[in-house]
Amino acid sequence: MSRYIEMFKDYVWNIPANGSLNVLVVGCGRAVEAYYLNEYFSGNARFLCVDIDDKELYYAKENLIGIDARIKKHNAARLNEVTDESFDLVISRHPDISSDPLDLGNWEGIYNSASERMAPGATLVVTTYTPKEIENVLMVMKKLRNMKIGPIERNKHSLAINAESGLDGYILTASSLPS
Ligand SMILES: C[S@@+](CC[C@H](N)C(=O)[O-])C[C@H]1O[C@@H](n2cnc3c(N)ncnc32)[C@H](O)[C@@H]1O
Repeated sequence: MSRYIEMFKDYVWNIPANGSLNVLVVGCGRAVEAYYLNEYFSGNARFLCVDIDDKELYYAKENLIGIDARIKKHNAARLNEVTDESFDLVISRHPDISSDPLDLGNWEGIYNSASERMAPGATLVVTTYTPKEIENVLMVMKKLRNMKIGPIERNKHSLAINAESGLDGYILTASSLPS
């Protein structure tokens, strides 16, 4: 089992592994997270993976062969142009969000758009390499309406890069409240 799944089991305990879920992955890149989550959910999850980068999506398609996943090239800040579904789980792994206002604006748009597609009680899970990135995510998320945002946690399953950073080093979850 991957470290991502070990993290999921420990920090996203409100999502049952045996549930049948509609999962949205924003900024999916090569969709490694969807690959492992499919394993965790024993193939019972359905994925929509969105990214703007053709090259990354080429590899995402390879990685998700045989998995119930749709892969879309689109700006994830405009999800209403690709789906009208609602989702039980939204994943954002390694958004690499900097403090540049343009970057903050990009991810604010993405999380805002994703939050509009979340079913009541659905969960958003963001992981970052660094503490600064997760603080930026928190700042952006605080602007969302109808979201209960959990504390930032340091992921004990992270593979360390240095003393303060690592793969999925920090995790923040939020859940959508009924409007
Ligand atoms: C550092 S990569 C992480 C990829 C993958 N989640 C992972 O952990 O391996 C961040 C991804 O976000 C995507 N991205 C950034 N802004 C986006 C946007 N507005 N819409 C869709 N994808 C976006 C980038 O193209 C990139 O693939």
